[in-house]
Amino acid sequence: MIPLVDLAAQHREIAADVEAGFASVIGRTAFILGDEVAQFERELAEFVGVRHCIGVASGTDALELVVRAAGVGAGDEVVVPANTFVATALAVVRAGATPVFVDCDPVHQLIDVGALPIGGQTRAIIAVHLYGQMAPVEAIAQAAPGVLVLEDAAQAHGARRFERPAGSLGVAAATSFYPGKNLGAYGDGGAVLTGSDTLADKVRALRNYGGTVKYQHPELGMNSRLDTLQAVVLRAKLKRLAGWNAARRAAARRYDELLAELPEVQRPRAGPGNEHVWHLYTVRVRQRDEVLRRLLAAGIGAAIHYPVPLHLQGAFAHLGHRRGDFPASERAAAETLSLPLFPHITEEQQTRVVAELRRALEGVA
Ligand SMILES: Cc1ncc(COP(=O)(O)O)c(C=O)c1O
Repeated sequence: MIPLVDLAAQHREIAADVEAGFASVIGRTAFILGDEVAQFERELAEFVGVRHCIGVASGTDALELVVRAAGVGAGDEVVVPANTFVATALAVVRAGATPVFVDCDPVHQLIDVGALPIGGQTRAIIAVHLYGQMAPVEAIAQAAPGVLVLEDAAQAHGARRFERPAGSLGVAAATSFYPGKNLGAYGDGGAVLTGSDTLADKVRALRNYGGTVKYQHPELGMNSRLDTLQAVVLRAKLKRLAGWNAARRAAARRYDELLAELPEVQRPRAGPGNEHVWHLYTVRVRQRDEVLRRLLAAGIGAAIHYPVPLHLQGAFAHLGHRRGDFPASERAAAETLSLPLFPHITEEQQTRVVAELRRALEGVA
């Protein structure tokens, strides 16, 4: 079996750091926030090149907090791509605002800037950096003057666009440390990144029951802090992130070469100016469901990101969309196929993935 992501290989590299870090936290019984979280926040802020990083309980919470702290809520509309993970739109609803979907471009599957549905109620756009490459943030900002651009950087740890890091371009960014992410914890976790002192103060209060002074709650907040033990894991992984991203890039290049022999497979492409970090290597094929079934049967852990675009999810039925509303996202949902890719994948494993993909394609032809 070749898994979609092999987290055990990563753990072997950081096991000693994690053991020592856990022992230190447990020895001090310092389980909530504390030094590890503060140090990780400083290190990630520096890595991204922003003034503030605030660790929270998940990427979904980070998105909600970004929207709320930006002052967006009831009566406001927030543009969200139809082709993304559900959390992007879920967070908008949780913040009390209304998501308005936009289609994706057919090549990179990122927000289609030419289709932005900007109206009188539009307060923000969430630029999702999908699969490891950044959405065209500068073009989005230019197309929607006066509208806040927020980043969903959950899939783009370490990515850059025209030399500028993911998480540093919008008013604020949300990111996730879900275990399979390029920077993943050993459970849930997330962070808000921002250059704004005011927004950072607001998120620090909101993540901690609505106040930073004990038993003083000027606002209705939540309990959404980055777990201290997770900060230990994340500090160990952050030190290795650049190297692991380089290994992902090398693996993506190898897939590009191997797949050049299969013209029926559409390979993913990095957009102009984008330094891709290959969170996912997502190809497009016809008869995708049958190809996937055959790959899984052959022990290849391929997967679909994502099989149902958001406008067709039951959770958003109240928005009244129908099949056909966002054709590029619907086509992507029918054709995308993510192949196993992780920093420690070997040439032999990739050769086998491509051989099994060839066999599956021959089988459905
Ligand atoms: C693009 C995107 N946004 C948001 C999230 C939500 O993050 P979490 O699972 O940490 O809540 C994820 C991943 O899970 C994601 O891939």
